[in-house]
Amino acid sequence: MINCLSSRHEGDILKVWYRGRAACLKIGQKNHKSTRIEAKVLAYLEGIGGAPKIYALSTHRPAIIMEYLNGVSLQQFYVNASPELRKNIESLVRYKLGQIHFVGYVHCNITASNVIVSHQDGEYDVHILDYGRARPYKEEFADKDVHDVDRMFQGLEWLTRFTKS
Ligand SMILES: Nc1ncnc2c1ncn2[C@@H]1O[C@H](COP(=O)(O)OP(=O)(O)OP(=O)(O)O)[C@@H](O)[C@H]1O
Ligand SMILES: [Mg+2]
Repeated sequence: MINCLSSRHEGDILKVWYRGRAACLKIGQKNHKSTRIEAKVLAYLEGIGGAPKIYALSTHRPAIIMEYLNGVSLQQFYVNASPELRKNIESLVRYKLGQIHFVGYVHCNITASNVIVSHQDGEYDVHILDYGRARPYKEEFADKDVHDVDRMFQGLEWLTRFTKS
């Protein structure tokens, strides 16, 4: 069974089965630089920041098979969460982003659709996705990531108030 997770100009993102487990197949266009960058960064991170682990890479047609992360987008999660839970999730996102910076990368594309919130055995966790624009660490890029996180949570707070009023 194959489920389409996202249909993009660059190529589809599909939920597939790979070696007996659920996986995510992200297909890029020929010569799609961001797919190559993403593969390199995922291989380096090995799950740091909650990044999906990379399982396989095709170079013929740029494509990545990676860990399938079970959860909901940050936006979907946020509007239905209690204020206390929202604060916990926000701290987790900041912590995971800090881990990515610490090991030497900046994400450069922090948005609510690039964060997945998972819930397993009563524990919440967050996963930062989509490393096609990531770059080696530089302080000014890291500051921009942090600024983007601030703006993302301000936006989510406004959205929550708007949808609940
Ligand atoms: N490893 C994964 N596990 C589960 N879902 C994923 C995974 N990777 C991507 N997705 C889903 O596909 C969506 C798009 O993925 P991603 O952000 O990597 O690509 P994108 O180029 O930004 O595409 P889009 O423009 O649709 O956001 C994510 O928001 C998420 O819902
Ligand atoms: Mg994305």
